Amino acid sequence: MSRASRILIVDDEESVRHQLASLLQLEGYEVETAVDGQDARDKLTKDAVDLVLCDVRMPGMGGMELLKAMGGLEAESAFIMMSAYGDIDMAREAVRAGASDYVNKPYKNDEVLLRISIVEQRQKLRRENKQLKQAIREQSTFEKIIGRAASMQAMFRTVEKIAEFKSTVLITGESGTGKELLARAIHMRSPRRNEAFVAINCGAIPENLLESELFGHVRGAFTDAVRNKEGLFAEADGGTLFLDEIGELPLNLQVKLLRVLQEEEIRRVGDNKSISVDVRILAATLKDLPEEVKRGTFREDLFYRLNVLLVKIPPLRDRPEDIPLLVEHFLSHCNAKLDTRVSGIEPAAMKMLVEYAWPGNVRELENLVERAVILCDGDRITTELLTDRVRQAPPPSLAQIPEGQLSIKKTVRALEEELIRRALGETGGNRTRAAKLLEISHRTLLYKLKDYSIDANRYST
Ligand SMILES: Nc1ncnc2c1ncn2[C@@H]1O[C@H](COP(=O)(O)OP(=O)(O)OP(=O)(O)O)[C@@H](O)[C@H]1O
Ligand SMILES: [Mg+2]
Repeated sequence: MSRASRILIVDDEESVRHQLASLLQLEGYEVETAVDGQDARDKLTKDAVDLVLCDVRMPGMGGMELLKAMGGLEAESAFIMMSAYGDIDMAREAVRAGASDYVNKPYKNDEVLLRISIVEQRQKLRRENKQLKQAIREQSTFEKIIGRAASMQAMFRTVEKIAEFKSTVLITGESGTGKELLARAIHMRSPRRNEAFVAINCGAIPENLLESELFGHVRGAFTDAVRNKEGLFAEADGGTLFLDEIGELPLNLQVKLLRVLQEEEIRRVGDNKSISVDVRILAATLKDLPEEVKRGTFREDLFYRLNVLLVKIPPLRDRPEDIPLLVEHFLSHCNAKLDTRVSGIEPAAMKMLVEYAWPGNVRELENLVERAVILCDGDRITTELLTDRVRQAPPPSLAQIPEGQLSIKKTVRALEEELIRRALGETGGNRTRAAKLLEISHRTLLYKLKDYSIDANRYST
């Protein structure tokens, strides 16, 4: 259900203001009045309204002047102008200057109400149109989450299942693993896809501003609060709010957030009444929240409230089979963006990428590909174009074996599995060639694939 529109009536005649105000209030509108253009302008800069019902001829600043001062077509509020009967030139001029409609004076009540509802309808359509356009733009991002690894496929299945519910989802993963990308995808797969997706990085906003950013404030709540402000919760009403870096939320706001989640009501800073909101919360963190709970920096009750559904994005080093796909994806993306024609990557360079540990995950890979494309003279990326960090990464060694593990059997098995995966990566899943590289028989390889539950098809490109 949408809230009542707020309307500002501007007329120098007291009786007109009075009659219109009672008429509109009876219809359920929230009404304010102003005695002339200047008065209206002061009121509008303090607090925006949805619609301005405005007399044209007034002493001092007139209606047309006010409309222009408020930005004409770009004005935040829609304008309906009022002037003496038969002044068709004035009507035309008003519409040209950006007014939404025009009413003759003396006006009929029914006509004023009709014009207002037409303009409201149009505003609603315009808002929907804006959201639809945003949705279309975002839709294309979903198809682009790349992940062929079994762990990613399992994650997609989970997302598919949970997207439609309103329950809170906590997304965890190292830096650059695609937490925000996934949050958008969940929104796009939910019934709220045509409503707003609002994101906030809780770690990037100074603590003293965060509360009013989230919940809004009323004019005068604090020194800089010169006008009412809607918070992000209100902006996301009906849609999804993505709380990024939730682990950075200060403790006092954790308490307030928990209350909002439980009561589905927000209270603006400085306000004494609550407003109900319908918002789906997605939260992300790279921190280990249970650990933060133990240390006392994150509230346990909030953690449980957020952790209703948990999605963990695996780090890139645990899914090397996705690297070739991601490289291909970013290559074509870069070629389109930069108007370049880099067609591929040399096998030796790909090998380095697959073996690298990717502390910055997909974002690091994305940046590396872009850099290589820019530096590339030929049509293929060579090892020279990779960053030193990647080129100088130490070869896998005993250092990777968990400390304290002395079992030869376990260690050999781990290394064996790793070598098989690499051979498959290198040959694009070709078993015959992989067996050759590994210097074992084809049959032995098939046996070992089964033993380690490795799916060779996952490596085919
Ligand atoms: N699986 C994927 N497929 C395609 N692109 C991806 C994938 N994962 C991440 N990306 C891209 O990598 C970049 C980083 O992703 P995103 O910002 O979502 O990560 P993040 O986990 O929120 O990172 P941070 O913790 O640093 O905020 C983005 O450009 C995103 O499009
Ligand atoms: Mg992020």
